[in-house]
Amino acid sequence: STPRPLVAGNWKMHGLSASLGEIEAVAGGYDAALREKVELAICPPATLLERASRLLAGAEIALGGQDCHERPSGAHTGDISAEMLADAGASYVIVGHSERRADHGESDALIRAKALAGLRAGLSPIVCVGETRAERDAGRASAIVEAQLDGSLPRRAAPDKLVVAYEPVWAIGSGLTPTPLDVAEMHAAIRARLVIHFGTGAAATRILYGGSVKAANAAELLRVKNVDGALVGGASLTAKEFLEIAEIYR
Ligand code: G3H
Repeated sequence: STPRPLVAGNWKMHGLSASLGEIEAVAGGYDAALREKVELAICPPATLLERASRLLAGAEIALGGQDCHERPSGAHTGDISAEMLADAGASYVIVGHSERRADHGESDALIRAKALAGLRAGLSPIVCVGETRAERDAGRASAIVEAQLDGSLPRRAAPDKLVVAYEPVWAIGSGLTPTPLDVAEMHAAIRARLVIHFGTGAAATRILYGGSVKAANAAELLRVKNVDGALVGGASLTAKEFLEIAEIYR
């Protein structure tokens, strides 16, 4: 059986106590009919996870971390383990976001180790991949994404526990998006790669599209074949727009 699509909000480094009101508002609009059609997750800054999880008790909205350390514990000042995220109420963890690949020099091998750490802590890793503008212009987009998948997917994983997010770097926060045809081609290539790694069970892995998803373009981008939801940045910061994106599945 194919899982429900997943719309996940990545708040990045946005959100203070006052933002918890947006989480409550999302819960308020996420009625039983919508819950049947689409799963929602919010990845706030780690400082808000525990309070968000208390607020959401019974609301069936999942929470996620935005990164984790690859080790279960230890002398790693400033880092957060996957187990800590789980303990604070998370069930997902984003790993390998392009902002971490770029700002913190994260390699595919490190991202694989983080995804594995997430799985060991009982979290579903959302493994992010995506090409830069220059790579797309050079006709190398799918080769880059396939190499990222080969390098960063955990080798043995239950495919239904794994989520992949395709986020073209040039589409993040830019208002630019690929065409639905480009999205279809890339998501088909990702699915094919997942089948090579995990066999036919790979149908259970959700492949999210991310990069300038808004209420206004969500239907066009997310109704594409092999697109099983979205990873939403800016448009996830207000409950109204985040819910409008989810509403396309109703
Ligand atoms: O993780 C989310 C993505 O980086 C997309 O961000 O929706 O603000 O373009 P954006």
